[in-house]
Amino acid sequence: MTSPHGPEDPDFTTQIAGPASTDGLAQCDTVVPEDPCTIVIVGATGDLTARKLMPSLLNLYNSGSLPRPFSIVGCGRTPLDHEAFRHRMHEALKKSAAFDAAAWEKFAGRLFYKEIDYQDPASFKALADLLDDLDRRSGTRKNRIVYLALPPSLYQPVSRSLGQAGLGDEHRGENGWSRLVVEKPFGHDLASAVRLDRNLQEFFEEHQIFRINHYLAKETVQNVLMFRFSNAIFEPIWNRRFIDYVNITATETLGVEHRAGYYEQSGVLRDMFQNHMMMLLALIAMEPPSRFNADQVRDERVKVFRALRPLDVANLRENLILGQYGAGTIDGRSVPGYLDEAGVAPGSLTPTYAKMRVFLDNWRWQGVPFYLTSGKRMARKVTQIAIQFKEVPHSMFRRILGETITANRLIIGIYPDEKITLTFQTKQPGAAVCLQRVTMDFLYRRDETEPVIDAYEKVLVDTMLGDQMLFWHQYGVERTWEFLTPVLDSFENCRDHHDSLHIYPAGGWGPHGVENLCPRALPDLMQSGVKGSE
Ligand code: BG6
Repeated sequence: MTSPHGPEDPDFTTQIAGPASTDGLAQCDTVVPEDPCTIVIVGATGDLTARKLMPSLLNLYNSGSLPRPFSIVGCGRTPLDHEAFRHRMHEALKKSAAFDAAAWEKFAGRLFYKEIDYQDPASFKALADLLDDLDRRSGTRKNRIVYLALPPSLYQPVSRSLGQAGLGDEHRGENGWSRLVVEKPFGHDLASAVRLDRNLQEFFEEHQIFRINHYLAKETVQNVLMFRFSNAIFEPIWNRRFIDYVNITATETLGVEHRAGYYEQSGVLRDMFQNHMMMLLALIAMEPPSRFNADQVRDERVKVFRALRPLDVANLRENLILGQYGAGTIDGRSVPGYLDEAGVAPGSLTPTYAKMRVFLDNWRWQGVPFYLTSGKRMARKVTQIAIQFKEVPHSMFRRILGETITANRLIIGIYPDEKITLTFQTKQPGAAVCLQRVTMDFLYRRDETEPVIDAYEKVLVDTMLGDQMLFWHQYGVERTWEFLTPVLDSFENCRDHHDSLHIYPAGGWGPHGVENLCPRALPDLMQSGVKGSE
């Protein structure tokens, strides 16, 4: 095959190399932050630090992706010295696959610890002195990230004490920046989210606040925008004229685990919908920004939230099904119902499952239902977005085949399969006139040995780079709460609260009745190779 522009035309060569060519990957290595910095983890003796933050930081160190120099300062209420903290982290990390004893020794030399009393401002002043001292000794130039690995009730007092100790100040003259990282929940409803933000902004400005959504940092989730806006063939059909409905699914087999204290206050709508489900919706539905930068991408995401049609709270059941898992079996193992989990209040009405139908009131999406489903203790862990296209306007084969032609479907698999699947019809080979449905798969990760950056690593690197594209802007947080707060109020305050919550057996696909809200939702999961138990 020759290129119209000659055989050496580089674009043409790439095209004929095949659809899954990985040419160009070399240019896509992780960007290494240039600014030296200190990462302060407040709540360093907790679970998040041992399970996610330290392994991610160690991996980044091993792959040469941390800036030089860097320091990590753990803070917590537990009295520890630097050595005892290093020992704790060593115990937490030594079993991980990536652990390398020689690299650990060097990494551990950059770990420090400061005992802190969250109620005592003097304690934060002492932390600031330690950071100044480290800056002087290591050359970290007053660039600081403070990661709040804390229960949300401590965000306000801790951020205020940090601010009062001068840790929110940006030392521009001395080349220093200061960033605050917070995990969800960002409030409990609209009013508390606004209050929380007001408190954080007492000492930290919007550009200094990094509100994490770890879903956005997943490779395949980031790929949604690349896929939509780097291919000319999808955008023209990405609208109400060609798309029948969209299913966004994030189910998991895990139950509430040891997090009942948090989950009882939250439930699935706050835990998954206010953030992860809304973000997936935004990526699928947003308009193309004119530039790929944090401000413009975040603006377009917010416009999606603004277009959400409020749910009619007088008839919530038309658009929302809530459930709670009962006892059941998962992977051949009996598991208890939610009410029997440690820390769950007797008779709790916390929902662990929700299916919601939402509409976007804008030109592109008018009339297209988006079905958002998330639940714990379901048959399989699946995260995917399925775009269901409309049926062909007229089937000239109907008289011969006597059947409906299955419409095209595009599935963006996020977990377990990171892939894009397109289904379409072809003629079945043979003398008879028959159609067959075929699928074309693009496996996102063909080579398992490829270096992959995990979601927390990505979040940490982007914070060091000061890139807020994958983080929530407060506007987005408020718009999503604006949509969900009336729904939560209505469910939590209604008299038939109890009747609105459907118990489903663990290990299934949710409560009975979900088919009525979206009759065509389950086949997507089946089609992605997931076998349900119903
Ligand atoms: C978290 C929720 O944000 O996301 C958890 O708090 C949930 O309840 C988790 O289990 C799911 O994340 P992932 O990456 O496993 O799909």
